[in-house]
Amino acid sequence: MVRDLWFAVFGNRHPVEVEIGPGRGEVILAWAAAAPERNFFAIERSSGRATALGMAAARRELPNVRVVAGDAACVLAHGVPDESVAAYHVYFPDPWPKTGHRHRRLFGGDLARQLARTLVPEGTVHVASDLPGLVAAISTQCVAAGLVLDSGVGPPPRPTTAFEQRYARAGTSYARFLRPRTNSRGSGARL
Ligand SMILES: C[S@@+](CC[C@H](N)C(=O)[O-])C[C@H]1O[C@@H](n2cnc3c(N)ncnc32)[C@H](O)[C@@H]1O
Repeated sequence: MVRDLWFAVFGNRHPVEVEIGPGRGEVILAWAAAAPERNFFAIERSSGRATALGMAAARRELPNVRVVAGDAACVLAHGVPDESVAAYHVYFPDPWPKTGHRHRRLFGGDLARQLARTLVPEGTVHVASDLPGLVAAISTQCVAAGLVLDSGVGPPPRPTTAFEQRYARAGTSYARFLRPRTNSRGSGARL
């Protein structure tokens, strides 16, 4: 693991926000353009989408965007240092509704613990889905990993993605989790 990873990646020490599974990248591209004083890192499993997003960021001349193709849990576990990420965004993760396929879910394994380990104190995780049951399942995992459900706060304003437009006609469920100042369960020492 590179000790000063984010400086090596971005060449500055601005706060880093990570979007997991950005798809076409509507959210991260808009936020990066609006907040040049923050860095945005996308982890997208589909190499085709990751390449397209990297090209879109280059076309828009956004120096504060980087994209990596890979599985988020693996990238975090092997690449991202403890207490180094200001916020994670997970919007409309694939639901894998069949019981036999649940292990393929984004939060099917170690991801919540990796989020807790890598968040700065008071860092946040934002999750949205058209499926309230999926948000509830993710919530259980995040809380078990030591994050705190922050129920009084609404979602940060973000563009509606093509996916959201198509699948969330009945509404979007949102949850926000906070890494407390003392993170007993998610600390790197215990992983
Ligand atoms: C249903 S799409 C949602 C895309 C986008 N967030 C949106 O709201 O339009 C889910 C995205 O997550 C990506 N994805 C699925 N599993 C992943 C994983 N383990 N690591 C990183 N990305 C993943 C998929 O390739 C896909 O682009």
